[in-house]
Amino acid sequence: MEESGQRVAVFGAGYVGLVTGACFAELGHRVVLRDVVEAKIERLRRGEVPIYEPGLDDLLARNRERLAFTTEVDEAIEGADFVYVAVGTPPTYSGDADLSAVWTVVDELPEVDHRIVVCMKSTVPVGTGEKVRHRLDARGLAHVGYASNPEFTAEGTAVRDFMEPDRIVIGAFEQADGDAVAALHAGIDAPVVRADVASAEMIKLAANAALMARISFINEIANVCEATGADVVKVAEGIGHDRRIGKSFLRAGIGFGGSCFPKDSLALKQLAASSGYHFQVLNAVIEVNELQKRRVIGKLKRLLGSLRGKRVALLGLAFKPNTDDTREAPAFVLAGRLLAEGADVVAWDPVARADGLHGVVQVASVDEALAGADAAVLVTEWPQLAEVDWASLAERMRSAVLVDGRNMLDPGAMRAAGFTYDAIGRAAS
Ligand code: UGA
Repeated sequence: MEESGQRVAVFGAGYVGLVTGACFAELGHRVVLRDVVEAKIERLRRGEVPIYEPGLDDLLARNRERLAFTTEVDEAIEGADFVYVAVGTPPTYSGDADLSAVWTVVDELPEVDHRIVVCMKSTVPVGTGEKVRHRLDARGLAHVGYASNPEFTAEGTAVRDFMEPDRIVIGAFEQADGDAVAALHAGIDAPVVRADVASAEMIKLAANAALMARISFINEIANVCEATGADVVKVAEGIGHDRRIGKSFLRAGIGFGGSCFPKDSLALKQLAASSGYHFQVLNAVIEVNELQKRRVIGKLKRLLGSLRGKRVALLGLAFKPNTDDTREAPAFVLAGRLLAEGADVVAWDPVARADGLHGVVQVASVDEALAGADAAVLVTEWPQLAEVDWASLAERMRSAVLVDGRNMLDPGAMRAAGFTYDAIGRAAS
């Protein structure tokens, strides 16, 4: 693509920052990625990619001449037209978003004499833009623009989600800043939603809340299916054909995890509560998700009796397939509960690590995980699990019990392979 002459500084070379930077470079802009972690910057300079994200390594390699990496603020800002903030906003103990990394970026911005636009990519509470605006003004940086430009990229498909998004959302205080951010995305074919800053911030939180609500909704339908003999996979198919409902995000399972949904649901809950509003639906969505992770324990107890001394294999640790991310992964909650019940827990995952899961033995193959196990739980729907020879694995187990927490496998085939098979929201036999 042609050089557009725009210069973009991206603060935070984490998963969002790296994808944002690489994609802007792909669009022809010159990008400087800045991070405080020296080792990460060193690796990026050497051409290594510190995270597992399909397509990102190619994108970084292809656009090398348009990308630079630094730990220095001044070097990043030098000549920049846009400063993207893509730092972490983890939850505090209260569930509020911790904005300290955002404030550090705002406070570190050097005096600049040309117009730059600070663009918020990190997910922040509604009202953050307003506060940043005041802080910039108080520092005599009234000529620095501000825009909210939230990300809607999912891990594993982040590059595609950025380059082929369903929409681009831009909220700016000044029309010209919004126009500039829109122009920065030239080359991407997607509707652009222009909004005020607060609404842009809310669009991000509401989008994630809507997706979480769908998951908790289908999970509750699954639980009622179990109680009544219906099959949630059929039900999801049947309702998904209704265009008003749609097919996506109707996979029942053991609940959502990841670095975004759990954090963003708490942040929105806190935001509403501290504004004086009790967000009932969102509270239910969160509670259903918590309970869903634990339902597997009840299933195992029904099938095995006491779990004390039983060997349970967890198939998958990542919060979803095609990522090594285990943040808020249901596997970790399950492992903790199983250990508390006195079970021996072994885990397999093709990329994610059981680091921090004390007491869990991680093994290198599905075969090793199942050897001598009393039960297995399919936690993450890794495609590899569709390829294994379940019939021979059943023979390796002490008792061939499998709880499919993602409804990934065919119940009839699993039973024919010798398993006592249970899933989520599907008839138990
Ligand atoms: C999510 C959103 O999908 C992105 O649009 C958003 O930008 C991102 O959060 C963010 O805020 O940064 P991500 O967390 O990477 O992306 O992953 P998803 O693919 O959305 O999955 C989230 C969780 O929901 C996973 O644990 C997954 O297993 C679960 N899920 C998803 C279900 O249980 N059922 C479904 O039907 C879909």
